[in-house]
Amino acid sequence: MSRIAYVNGRFAPKMQAVVHIEDRGYQLADAVYEVWALFDGKLADPEGHFARLERSLSELRIPMPMSRAALTTVLRETVRRNRIREGLVYLQVSRGVARRDHAFPATPVPPAVVVTVSRVDRAATEARAAAGVSVVTTPENRWGRCDIKTVGLLPNALAKQKAREAGAAEAWFVDDLGFVTEGASSNAWIVDGDGVLRTRDTNANILRGVTRLSLLDVAREAGLKVEERPFTPDEAVAAKEAFITGAGTLVLPVVAIDGRNVGDGKVGPVAMRLRRLYIERAKATAI
Ligand code: PDD
Repeated sequence: MSRIAYVNGRFAPKMQAVVHIEDRGYQLADAVYEVWALFDGKLADPEGHFARLERSLSELRIPMPMSRAALTTVLRETVRRNRIREGLVYLQVSRGVARRDHAFPATPVPPAVVVTVSRVDRAATEARAAAGVSVVTTPENRWGRCDIKTVGLLPNALAKQKAREAGAAEAWFVDDLGFVTEGASSNAWIVDGDGVLRTRDTNANILRGVTRLSLLDVAREAGLKVEERPFTPDEAVAAKEAFITGAGTLVLPVVAIDGRNVGDGKVGPVAMRLRRLYIERAKATAI
């Protein structure tokens, strides 16, 4: 069955869904995006993703293309037309179409909106979580506004390719001070030797992951000690557990970093418990 995409007010089979060659997202990466996990046809963590979308847009002075309510209807309708229950919903909003010029169009143009949906095999992702994944490290080389979820993802794409060529699932960026910032498409966490759950604070140049934020709540509710404090790759290797979070990975255990085992090299109980608790909560609050 061909997939259906939403492009600027129309639904079309993906193969025929096209954007203008002078879309500023295409030419200048002048666009933002969001990704929602889809559980049983419903959008996970809706508030967090809408809030971040609005913030990303406002930081770039791109207007919201439509109200939250209207956007929710568009997202749901795209999901419905694709008949997907378990998957990912992708939304991209660019500044719009204008003759190529680095500065914003003198006469404002309407933002361009694209929505696509892809299927996720939950059984396969559960098996992957149960086995754990490995990551590689790579020097942080991104711009200073990683808090804005823009489509300018070239360093992330190159880092992910480096991971893939090393047989790893993710790359962790490491800053000039030797601390892990985040993954190419996920946030990074450890359970340190004292059993404290640690992830980088959002004063650092990282994306404020929606899954990260929900998981901080989940972890506190579960009675875990949590600290938003940086860690090095060596600390991660010496930790009891490590894992990554994101709309695509949810909570995914990391068992090796640059070929070195994390802790005993096995998937840990804390990550798996948090994965279960996060999924339960995401399902209960999805819309
Ligand atoms: N990526 N950090 C980066 C650089 C990311 O690209 C992502 C998400 C995250 C996790 O954020 P969240 O929990 O809100 O998904 C952290 C999405 C899934 C992607 O690019 O496909």
